[in-house]
Amino acid sequence: MRNLIDIRDLSTTEIDELIAVANDIIANPGKYSEVCRGKKLATLFFEPSTRTRLSFEAAMYELGGNVLSVAGGNSSSAAKGESVADTAKTVSCYADIIAMRHPKEGAPLVASMNASIPVINAGDGGHNHPTQTLADLLTISREKGRLGNLTVGFCGDLKFGRTVHSLIAALSRYTGIKIVLISPTELRVPDYIKAEVMEKNAIPYEETTDLLSAMPELDILYMTRVQRERFFNEEDYLRLKDSYILTPDKLIGAKEDLSILHPLPRVNEIAVAIDNDPRACYFKQVFNGKIMRMALIMKLLEVTV
Ligand code: CP
Repeated sequence: MRNLIDIRDLSTTEIDELIAVANDIIANPGKYSEVCRGKKLATLFFEPSTRTRLSFEAAMYELGGNVLSVAGGNSSSAAKGESVADTAKTVSCYADIIAMRHPKEGAPLVASMNASIPVINAGDGGHNHPTQTLADLLTISREKGRLGNLTVGFCGDLKFGRTVHSLIAALSRYTGIKIVLISPTELRVPDYIKAEVMEKNAIPYEETTDLLSAMPELDILYMTRVQRERFFNEEDYLRLKDSYILTPDKLIGAKEDLSILHPLPRVNEIAVAIDNDPRACYFKQVFNGKIMRMALIMKLLEVTV
């Protein structure tokens, strides 16, 4: 039985296979409409979500399966003090696969160690968000036709941005990747990502606070929200929240074929005026998230067309 807790639980070959399945789902959706008939997905979300929970649920419905849902910690027995381990054992009696979001780093891992069905990490604290990474990789692959030989800029809250941590881990396995980390000093990417991911894989990277000077070399610009819910005090959040706001004038030095990504939700980081720029890919990411979650559910349930 397989789980997806960290993007590195999947080999590069498996990611490439998931992307191939996703492209086939986009081309031939009818082929997949019954493959999960009789199967149930439990979405256990102890933190707010629009895209991840709804795309998991839409994915399961589009595969012909059904969904059981906990949307918010207060609506389950977690509010009475039930442990993640007991929740996982319980839900294993009702469902065939779990997607869990939790504010505590490592909670989906604990669930996977106690469940008798596959567990997918749908975001754990400021740690990881591997299925967002699958959406990001499909988007990059479809936009650029490759996952290697790219200069990728990550901009914003690189300390708490779990999507950033997971995507760096995934991209570090492809050749010709260069990473530019653009953030306020206080929100730099954690040292363990630098040491255990980029340096270990000999990925060239640079850190800067200056988005405009980095812009001309970027093939991908991955904007992120400052993660208010992870700050210890509101004053720091208010000081840092608008550090980077992408507006059309800031794209003057950018490549014509730049791809602008954002895991969403956005607050102020990307002006609405950018939405009609052909380089804006963030709503394509939303769609691709559902498709990659369909491919992932099929893989973990070991169902085939
Ligand atoms: N990208 C993402 O995780 O969005 P939600 O928080 O809406 O699920």
